[in-house]
Amino acid sequence: MNNRFMNNRSTSERSLASAVITAISAVIALTFSASTLAWLEAGGEREEALHLTPDLEHGMEVFEVCAGCHLTEGWGKEDGTFPQLAGQHVEVLIKQLADIRDRNRDNPTMYPFALPESIGGPQSLADVVAYIAKLPMDPDNGKGEWAKGTAEFDQGKKLFADNCVKCHGDDGEGKAEKYYPRIQGQHYKYMLRQFEWIRDGKRRNANPDMVKQIKAFSDKDMQMVINYVSRIPVPKEDLAPSKDWLNPDYD
Ligand code: HEC
Ligand code: HEC
Repeated sequence: MNNRFMNNRSTSERSLASAVITAISAVIALTFSASTLAWLEAGGEREEALHLTPDLEHGMEVFEVCAGCHLTEGWGKEDGTFPQLAGQHVEVLIKQLADIRDRNRDNPTMYPFALPESIGGPQSLADVVAYIAKLPMDPDNGKGEWAKGTAEFDQGKKLFADNCVKCHGDDGEGKAEKYYPRIQGQHYKYMLRQFEWIRDGKRRNANPDMVKQIKAFSDKDMQMVINYVSRIPVPKEDLAPSKDWLNPDYD
């Protein structure tokens, strides 16, 4: 009897100890994933895809799947549901795709369509982004409500200069080799959602230094800075000739 009791006790002590260890490792894992690991270490396909020679013909075939949401022009939607992909840096597109496939960035809508079973491995990523990269951008992206000349526009411009330029560049052009996205020309509502998710820790692959930089932003600050970004002019040579332009590959 006594023995059985002792055994039971040591079993429950052991399971308590193992529960504590599990909890500690979960905290450690969370600490790491919330800092640097999640931003750049995940998405192992990224490096591989970046070094492959793209096949544009195949990229166009793959893009048919994407066009269902991002449109054949790659312009996405002004209401922010789908981002514009046209004009984005190849490096950024590959990183985001690899992160989404690796579940390092939540995108339940797109996830099944982006899987290797649906579009293929790293070569397909290289092919489709090469195709996207040659598409001209939407000449009239979705914008915030404050036009040039308003106090909110000016305040947004100041917030941008003080907090964003060092990574996203003077005109929001981004930096390809560092995976800093081009945000110039992107739809206001899409950017607002991403910015909020990044600030509030909901976008796991976010850059930890950006999170730090913007954590004190109020909702109004966020709206003003994104309003400004949505109104930065895109160089003319990167834009389609008109809003009516249709991708001739899909005629
Ligand atoms: C069923 C709709 C759907 C399909 C199909 C789809 N996407 Fe997406 N995609 C989305 C949504 C929605 C988002 C934005 C998710 C969010 O708000 O975080 C997105 C985001 C992205 C992003 C991130 C953009 C950024 O600025 O960070 C990339 C890159 C992308 N998609 C590429 C593709 C490619 C390439 C394909 C085809 C292989 C594709 N998508 C197919 C819905 C779709
Ligand atoms: C320390 C560098 C850094 C700073 C400072 C920074 N960002 Fe970012 N930003 C990034 C990186 C890197 C990403 C992409 C993260 C990833 O890979 O998912 C990003 C993503 C974004 C996105 C989402 C883009 C997309 O296509 O999904 C928006 C919008 C954005 N930043 C706006 C801003 C604004 C506005 C500011 C200033 C208030 C700012 N960022 C400051 C590095 C920075």
